[in-house]
Amino acid sequence: MVTILDKTFGPFLSQAIIEERIGEMAAQINEDYHGKTPIFIVVLNGAFLFASELLKRLDLSCEVSFVRFASYENTQSSGNVREILGLQENLSGRDVVVIEDIVDTGLTMNQLLNQLRPSNPKSLAVATLLHKPEALKAPVSLEYAGFEIENRFVVGYGLDYDGLGRNLNAIYVLQDISSQA
Ligand code: IMP
Repeated sequence: MVTILDKTFGPFLSQAIIEERIGEMAAQINEDYHGKTPIFIVVLNGAFLFASELLKRLDLSCEVSFVRFASYENTQSSGNVREILGLQENLSGRDVVVIEDIVDTGLTMNQLLNQLRPSNPKSLAVATLLHKPEALKAPVSLEYAGFEIENRFVVGYGLDYDGLGRNLNAIYVLQDISSQA
């Protein structure tokens, strides 16, 4: 068990299981991008550990870039508009793979892909470590998804609870309220 602030988390996915699956994802990407020079766009903060384990298993010539989201309330709409920051590279004609930690509602990924498409990449794919299919609200196609998980809150391996827990080397799941002391 791991306690972070007021919450208790139990074991969910071990480091060995996570890294075995990342190895399989890397093998697939090596095959799919053989002879190409893709650019990987890592979504910070959460994807840093997954990206590092995935990228070091690739035997491709590739570039790696990092983006963050800036969130702000748009005065014209009630929605929370998120803009990508930090992308310097020209994506026109490039094979682009976005690396994310988790796709939950899919709203973040949907907005990110919509902001990348006008740059006219040759191809655009997504690699996510985790995916919560039940929580999906926006259509997103996930070419490489590590684990489909239930709609429960998880931490570790890059994912945080209130900024904490990102450095845990395995993934832990929030315990039921009834088991919280
Ligand atoms: P989405 O826009 O709902 O798909 O949310 C994506 C973002 O929400 C992820 O990049 C995470 O930062 C965060 N998130 C969603 N589910 C979890 C979770 O179970 N644990 C930690 N962060 C999460």
